[in-house]
Amino acid sequence: MLELKNVSWTVEDNHGRTDIVKNVSLTLHDHKLYVVTGPNGGGKSTLAKLVMGLIAPSSGQILFDGVDITHMPITERAKLQIGYAFQTPPVFKGINVRELLTLAAGEKEINPMQLLFDVGLCAGEYINREMDSGLSGGELKRIEIASILARDLKLALFDEPEAGIDLWSFQRLAETFDKMHRQSDMTLMIISHQERIMHLADEIIVIDSGEVREITDKNTFLGSLTLKDSCGCGETCERGVSF
Ligand SMILES: Nc1ncnc2c1ncn2[C@@H]1O[C@H](COP(=O)(O)OP(=O)(O)O)[C@@H](O)[C@H]1O
Ligand SMILES: [Mg+2]
Repeated sequence: MLELKNVSWTVEDNHGRTDIVKNVSLTLHDHKLYVVTGPNGGGKSTLAKLVMGLIAPSSGQILFDGVDITHMPITERAKLQIGYAFQTPPVFKGINVRELLTLAAGEKEINPMQLLFDVGLCAGEYINREMDSGLSGGELKRIEIASILARDLKLALFDEPEAGIDLWSFQRLAETFDKMHRQSDMTLMIISHQERIMHLADEIIVIDSGEVREITDKNTFLGSLTLKDSCGCGETCERGVSF
């Protein structure tokens, strides 16, 4: 359903050119759950932004259901039912939570209270809250995830959904991802460092230094983690083991 062919993204500044994403080729299939992981700064969020169309590749091609979407704007990709929950969500001022969820759902019938519950929020407390009324980062994040759940998507990208979320809400969120995976046809790409989320994956994709380092099943990945040093310092580490 989603195919990345030799996708690169390069930035140019005073210090010269830097390849943030390097020649990434990936195929994501229908109805699968992929967890993308790897060291901080490895290029995971950038990859998600390339898929969503927030930035355009410097080279390479992105196909969605066989359609070349490489230079398609984000609004057009949204119409193709691709959705993205930001690592740090933007704040939408002037609307309340219920309105945000209803707007996101479009013609799809939703139960806003249930959606809030699914992301671990006490629905009654939040449903009429203004989006700019001093919501914490974790609350904002969960409301944004709920707005993605409200939509009728073919491909949903979640960027570190665990960030800023307490253990109990996180547990609820993990159950929701599991339910989505089992009960819908959606393809899920979840950027995460959490073992609980990795356990839901059909495949784990490791991104490091802008490259696909490894694509593997969860058992192999989680098994190999226990054998490795987890300091994350890469080749520069005197203990010499990356990720
Ligand atoms: N617009 C940008 N300009 C310059 N560097 C960027 C830009 N966006 C991201 N980067 C750099 O690219 C690298 C990868 O970032 P990111 O994709 O956010 O990593 P991850 O999500 O894996 O932690 C980081 O070193 C980051 O500083
Ligand atoms: Mg990131």
